Amino acid sequence: MEEIKFNQIGVSFKGSGSYVPDQILTNEEISQKVDTSDEWIKSRTGISERRISRVEDNVADMGYKAALTAIEMANWDIKTIDLIVLATSTPNDLFGSAPSIQAKLGASNAVAFDLTAACSGFLFALITTSQFLKAGNFKRALVVGADQLSSFVDWNDRRSCILFGDGAGALAIEATNEFDNFIGFDMRTDGERGCFLNLPSKNNEDSIIDNIQFLSGGFSPIQMNGQEVYKFAVKEVPIILDKLFKKTNYSSDKVDWLILHQANQRILDSVGDRLRIPKEKILSNLEKYGNTSAATIPLMIDEAIRNHSIKQNDIIATSGFGAGLSWGAALIKWG
Ligand code: UT7
Repeated sequence: MEEIKFNQIGVSFKGSGSYVPDQILTNEEISQKVDTSDEWIKSRTGISERRISRVEDNVADMGYKAALTAIEMANWDIKTIDLIVLATSTPNDLFGSAPSIQAKLGASNAVAFDLTAACSGFLFALITTSQFLKAGNFKRALVVGADQLSSFVDWNDRRSCILFGDGAGALAIEATNEFDNFIGFDMRTDGERGCFLNLPSKNNEDSIIDNIQFLSGGFSPIQMNGQEVYKFAVKEVPIILDKLFKKTNYSSDKVDWLILHQANQRILDSVGDRLRIPKEKILSNLEKYGNTSAATIPLMIDEAIRNHSIKQNDIIATSGFGAGLSWGAALIKWG
């Protein structure tokens, strides 16, 4: 790792990548499992289908594939990467899946670790990574968001199973002394409301020997109070974005794109209305992928970069929100 000696260090966005499993689960197919319908799911969420990992897939593999395409776009020599942060709530190794991505890439000079903040995870990882770059500690970093929630969904619970899917996205970002395209951010947590969305541990009592008990590890499926999470999102996301605009001397009309965590089309529409951001500027791909947790934001950015919607120097307002409860916002300029 080479120490950077600039007085003022900014962040530059160099590449994006994404990966989704090829196995598609449609609304129609879900309605064969639980009492729901394509019409209900589409009208309440905007989702038509989602991707489900095959049994041989895992978060590290998805994250690796997304990261590799971001590196290719950035045109980086893999050995020059200093840092890899993986946002995930579903690592295939509870000790961390980022080291596995580092190894698969052959990024032997990079330090790699996981960060968990559920659906806010990618945004929190992007903010964390940017602070490392701006502090002059690292030059090149990969921020990866990957989740495989299909492994933790209760596929008999129609109130939640319709929402989630699997996928990964990644951004390649770099420190520069020429400009700063990471304009500002804000982050919040309210653990008091954490009970509205959980993937809790499920521990069975067991004993090692007669008088020494222990709890065996495991997890219960996702538990969600959908209405409360919905109310939280439509209230807090406009507030945090509005504050961020004021803090950075921006306003919503200067924003080229609003990229929200892809949870529900009604949430996207409501936040857009409250901020007076027109529909054409609000990017959405949840119809195809559902809620892929930490992957939604980089998956959406990558799609919009590759279809030439997002162009160099476009201003992007982004916000992640979800379990914790946690939420955050960032204002960036692409390039
Ligand atoms: O990253 C954050 C992740 N979580 C979220 O973003 C969740 C945010 N919340 C939501 O997106 C919405 O609350 C849901 C899509 C989960 C639910 O939509 P809703 O409009 O809030 O529905 P509801 O919970 O108020 O339920 C309305 C009715 C109920 O029936 P009754 O009690 O009125 O007879 C539910 O039992 O719809 C029923 N229902 C369903 N019916 C058909 C709930 N789920 C389904 C379903 N199919 N899948």
